[in-house]
Amino acid sequence: MKVLVLGPGGREHALVRALLADPFVREVHAAPGNAGIAEDVPTHAIDANDPAAVTALARTLGADLVVIGPEAPLAAGVADALIDAGIPVFGPTRAAAQLEASKAFAKQVMAAAGVPTAMARVAATDEEASEALCTFGAPYVVKDDGLAAGKGVVVTDDLDAARAHASACFSAGGTVVVEEYLDGPEVSLFVLSDGRTVVPLAPAQDFKRIHDGDQGPNTGGMGAYSPLEWVPATLVEEVLSRVAQPVIDEMAHRGTPFAGVLYVGLALTSRGLRVIEFNARFGDPETQAVLARLTTPLGGVLLAAAKGTLDQIDPLMWSPQAAVAVVLASENYPDTPVTGRRVRGLKKAARVDGAHVLHAGTRLDDGKVVSAGGRVLAVVGLGDSLEDARVTAYEGLSRIELEGGQARTDIALAAARTGVAVGGPAGAPA
Ligand code: AMP
Ligand code: GLY
Repeated sequence: MKVLVLGPGGREHALVRALLADPFVREVHAAPGNAGIAEDVPTHAIDANDPAAVTALARTLGADLVVIGPEAPLAAGVADALIDAGIPVFGPTRAAAQLEASKAFAKQVMAAAGVPTAMARVAATDEEASEALCTFGAPYVVKDDGLAAGKGVVVTDDLDAARAHASACFSAGGTVVVEEYLDGPEVSLFVLSDGRTVVPLAPAQDFKRIHDGDQGPNTGGMGAYSPLEWVPATLVEEVLSRVAQPVIDEMAHRGTPFAGVLYVGLALTSRGLRVIEFNARFGDPETQAVLARLTTPLGGVLLAAAKGTLDQIDPLMWSPQAAVAVVLASENYPDTPVTGRRVRGLKKAARVDGAHVLHAGTRLDDGKVVSAGGRVLAVVGLGDSLEDARVTAYEGLSRIELEGGQARTDIALAAARTGVAVGGPAGAPA
């Protein structure tokens, strides 16, 4: 099988790496990829958000499967174009990807499907926003109702800051969703679907804030680990029966079946599980940790999701090892990152036993790897315990040099030390 992976980031590098390990995958291509992906597979400098360009490339390559990494190509209708061209695609249609692209739409689907989530109100004016903020009270949660790469959400105790974020979204021509604050730790669960059947991956936890101790602004994600030994053994079953299957059924019922991966972002609150958000794609950097543990060959599973045959696959198999992914981000991320800086020590890091490096925002400049985005790379460590995996990941990271680079030092720390997720949610007010 020949697979084309779309996207430029760390998640895509993890997908490429897992596909290369699948004995049934003969060839992997990527577009546009990054410096690390280009070391592993041929890359193609096309606009991955352009449905016609992607379809043409997939045809030229004779791809048996196209795997869409990020949300932008989904929202641009790349999956629709591939389906029209008869090319199997892992990733939902534009209509189904609304589950991520519009938070208001996701709330409607959850209401129709009876899925537990935060109470919320859509606001289009400063007045409506103020009213909703006062209804729910502090901590305030204000979300840009559109794609914002995980950075459109403000969680704060400061009413003026909450109002200001809403105003900024209105000025940009958008609306916001104001919602009740969810206490409790967060879990990311990726559920594969072919539009009917659901197959869960192993749960992971992401670290959204830029600084240690969950301080500072939200980012796309600064690190992740899996498995989560502290979650109830019944959690995955509960998410499938109360969230994933009802949502997949509701989408099918609406005539917009969802095939691909439904990323269920959950808060385990004192009143039970609540959905924080859906994404229509794998999470980044959770995928880097989760796929490091998947021993079932990935290509066949993604193809089954694309072709509607997920009910026929064997149960997924997992390594008993733990995985920790630690992100190295650029100076000034998540604001405007400083890019174009040399990244050194990549080979030394990869020589650490049990560690591998997945590139995110990197490119080659005169044959040298330089930073090219906010999140530059992740070092993934595998170990017999979470603590071992942490030590391995940080040992790898310590060998990498990037001027101004930012990395959290506490990824998976609480879970490794105590076996539980200590403290507030990853998105607790700074
Ligand atoms: P979202 O883009 O909806 O995933 O939000 C990004 C992050 O903001 C989440 O991962 C949480 O850390 C935080 N967050 C979002 N909604 C809430 C909420 N209702 N209560 C508490 N934290 C939230
Ligand atoms: N790690 C969060 C996300 O992918 O949206």
